[in-house]
Amino acid sequence: MTMALTLPAFTPLQASLWLTLCGRALDNRSSHRILGDETADEIVRRTGYDYQALHIIPSAALNIAHRAKKLDEVAARFFVRHPGAIGVDLGAGLDSRALRIAPPPAADWYDVDFPEVVEARRMALPDRANPHGVGADLTDPAWLDALPADRPAVIVADGLIAFLSEEEMVSLVNRLVAHFPSGEIAFNGYSRFAVWAQKRFAGATSIAGLTRFPGFDDPRTPERWNSKIKLVKEILCTREPEVADFPPALRLFTRLAAPSASWSRKGNVVLHYRF
Ligand SMILES: C[S@@+](CC[C@H](N)C(=O)[O-])C[C@H]1O[C@@H](n2cnc3c(N)ncnc32)[C@H](O)[C@@H]1O
Repeated sequence: MTMALTLPAFTPLQASLWLTLCGRALDNRSSHRILGDETADEIVRRTGYDYQALHIIPSAALNIAHRAKKLDEVAARFFVRHPGAIGVDLGAGLDSRALRIAPPPAADWYDVDFPEVVEARRMALPDRANPHGVGADLTDPAWLDALPADRPAVIVADGLIAFLSEEEMVSLVNRLVAHFPSGEIAFNGYSRFAVWAQKRFAGATSIAGLTRFPGFDDPRTPERWNSKIKLVKEILCTREPEVADFPPALRLFTRLAAPSASWSRKGNVVLHYRF
């Protein structure tokens, strides 16, 4: 039996990590598993976290797992082309992405989140899931100084940008692009509809008051934040191969939405850019 785990208290913003962690844990327990994140499942079990209080419906858990898988793929493919690259997970929470994608030995992976969360990562995750923890507020420009500036970087943000203002997101992107010689950035998108919905749906009440990002529908919007940013792909999850493994009713609904970009954008989207 694995040991029970007691983590330090989180602020409401930090506690948003439970939503995504529990989403991946529930996906791992589902018969229609998309990601299979055993580590998330184990942390939820060891902490005895009351995930039922979050009211995560099965389709929400599936979407959380699906977008994590798409972000994993972006990072893993980047490392195939750049085995000595830097990987950065912005607002990593208790996610063990480095464990899932296993970066090559010459690569370095950094998980950035508030110091309390980085401390909790040290307690909850095996060392190889947590190679470099950076405890910082992402809106503070200083944290990037700790990262090498002479290697290409793949930067992912899963469930983060909703919590930043547009100005904070734009300046974060500008600092990342200025720091690294080249690289890729990928994050789950928030359409204006998604932001509207997040403030109202039962499964998101734990974060409703914390959402600050206005959302955008045009995937090229970040190209206007920084002239080096170019869209690689708007990944509409309705069109991804994992839909074949969705439970029947959700699969049908997703297949109906897939031909329409505007319907697909109301759901799970991962935005992928290079610079
Ligand atoms: C919804 S959680 C997602 C966590 C993780 N990416 C995952 O998928 O499980 C959002 C995370 O962003 C972090 N976060 C939000 N704003 C931040 C900021 N300004 N600086 C550092 N971390 C931040 C929170 O502490 C939290 O861990």
